[in-house]
Amino acid sequence: MDTTAETLPLLDQSTPSTDSFRATALEGLQKSQKEIPSKFLYDERGSKLFDAICETDDYYPTRTEIGIMKQHVEEMVEALGPRVLLAEYGSGSSLKTRILLDHVDDLALYVPIDISRAHLAESAEVIAERYPHIPVQPLCADYTEAFDLPEPPRPASRTVVYYPGSTLGNFQPDDARRFLTGIADTVGADGGLLIGVDLRKDVDVLRAAYNDSEGVTAAFNKNLLRRMNRELDATFDLDQFEHEAVWNEDAGCIEMHLRSRGNQTVTVAGEPIAFAEGETIRTEYSYKYTLDDFEALAAEAGLGVEEVWTDDRSYFSVQYCSRVD
Ligand code: AVI
Repeated sequence: MDTTAETLPLLDQSTPSTDSFRATALEGLQKSQKEIPSKFLYDERGSKLFDAICETDDYYPTRTEIGIMKQHVEEMVEALGPRVLLAEYGSGSSLKTRILLDHVDDLALYVPIDISRAHLAESAEVIAERYPHIPVQPLCADYTEAFDLPEPPRPASRTVVYYPGSTLGNFQPDDARRFLTGIADTVGADGGLLIGVDLRKDVDVLRAAYNDSEGVTAAFNKNLLRRMNRELDATFDLDQFEHEAVWNEDAGCIEMHLRSRGNQTVTVAGEPIAFAEGETIRTEYSYKYTLDDFEALAAEAGLGVEEVWTDDRSYFSVQYCSRVD
């Protein structure tokens, strides 16, 4: 076994964003149902608030997923197989990945992929130091856009994408299908996907998770208004909007909104935006799947579910899918 730390130089495939915050926000705020895509929730403060959400008692997904990973890691490593190129989408601090990396010793390459360059470089260093036998190749890219995976320094038997956190739930169904199809293309023949998928459950549990009693999710949601004030010269009065997270039974998702407390007009990037009392901006979808729903979606994307691991309450699942050729 090679015992030398190998951090390969960070590859930067990030491209200037085609959909700027300004253009996207203005377009979304002019729709009859005002909306702003959830990716804009994650500026620096928003990312910290999201980390804080994961620590709250009410937000079960992170804790539950980590429990499943710890309990079944040996089986997961077996499903991955030997000499894998493991690419993690949206790696952040790679915290969940460490559970896997603690149990594999023959990875061909670990590729953490994240849009935040500084955070990526820092956490890749930490991983390389902690796992000197694993080559690490950080890749700065928006994983929802096209990018190329690097060649591993030692031959890989297959490519597996790791996509934890149930972030797939933040895509609407057509986008989720397209995204999974892209993963099937990226991993190629014999490739696989290890994914965290949040499951349907008692609606009260879901409502509590997105309306936590400490108010962290509310702060995370309202931070979008603060971000527009700062970056788009907007004039939102944060006290004039309230956080709301509701379960949409027909769609099978939680929707996060910011509700206007009164009739008001706000300026965003020089444009007046009128709000009636009670009108909302939709800021996030978080879809919850049944095991059958996810299996059907994966199949449409050319991926077959091979293994499903869940917790005792079946709140969350980690699933291994392989590309069906
Ligand atoms: C990142 N994503 C999976 C989270 C979720 O649960 O949909 C984002 C989040 N929004 C509010 N709380 C957490």
